Amino acid sequence: MSIDLSGKTALVTGAASGIGEAVARTLAAAGAAVVVTDLATQFDKAAAVVEAIVAGGDAAEFRALDISQEEQWISVTKHVRERYGALDVLVNNAGVVLVKPLVETTLEELRWISRINIEGVFLGVKHAVPLLRLRGQANPAGASIINFSSAMGIKGYPFGSLYSMSKGAIRLFSKSIALEFAQLHYNIRVNSIHPGLVDTAMVAHESEKLSALGAMGTSTSEEMRQAFQNLNPLGRLGTPQELANAVLFLASDLSSFVTGSEMTVDGGETAQ
Ligand SMILES: NC(=O)c1ccc[n+]([C@@H]2O[C@H](COP(=O)([O-])OP(=O)(O)OC[C@H]3O[C@@H](n4cnc5c(N)ncnc54)[C@H](O)[C@@H]3O)[C@@H](O)[C@H]2O)c1
Repeated sequence: MSIDLSGKTALVTGAASGIGEAVARTLAAAGAAVVVTDLATQFDKAAAVVEAIVAGGDAAEFRALDISQEEQWISVTKHVRERYGALDVLVNNAGVVLVKPLVETTLEELRWISRINIEGVFLGVKHAVPLLRLRGQANPAGASIINFSSAMGIKGYPFGSLYSMSKGAIRLFSKSIALEFAQLHYNIRVNSIHPGLVDTAMVAHESEKLSALGAMGTSTSEEMRQAFQNLNPLGRLGTPQELANAVLFLASDLSSFVTGSEMTVDGGETAQ
């Protein structure tokens, strides 16, 4: 059985590259009209993603959106209402990482990571809920919010405490609003996704920073990448497409009884 998202509208944040790009392409290929969003500075990359989707006969458009800026959420959700009438799927994918010993970390860095990884997700949910409720009323399978947390939102890891703090917040935020929206009969399902190490620019950045700190006995980013692969029982990094496959399920009506769940897509890393 193939998954069909025809007639649905999805908004994906941080969709110019990495996991978000794979999510946007996958949802569009399944038939959804996809609003590809990312920072205005990522316009060229985002435009290429949209161009490839449209060239394949599917539907997408780009809207600039810095998720930490409330007025930008207001403007993008207003556009979605005017153009599509409502929203079926919100994928809060955009995020940033910080790799540093705690004692060198500043309050400003905590505020920076919180503004994006926590406030950005809160703002997205808050401003998209009225649009998602409209679809929840019309579709017994419910509208769907998918929030990106991390394996680091479940387990602790050295040199990533602020990132773990932010991703742990997303895990329980997602569960709490899943319960609240069910109790309020919004018919909006909410789930968090917890990737392990996935082969994107974020992991390249992490391996460089961690090897410079000598983490796990490594001294080069190549050694760190190998150490990353050994962190999970499957012994490799995940691909952006493997994360997009999980999002596809949660976005679709096939996951109609799934809410408040934390889906690990981590090669078994957090099962250990
Ligand atoms: N790659 C991994 O190993 C991994 C592991 C666990 C969790 N995650 C999570 O998965 C999500 C995607 O990660 P990725 O590896 O694709 O990251 P990435 O760094 O490759 O891409 C992130 C995207 O988000 C965008 N972005 C950054 N700040 C933004 C902002 N303020 N507003 C809007 N867009 C912004 C970037 O421009 C970029 O396109 C993130 O939430 C990340 O924390 C990734």
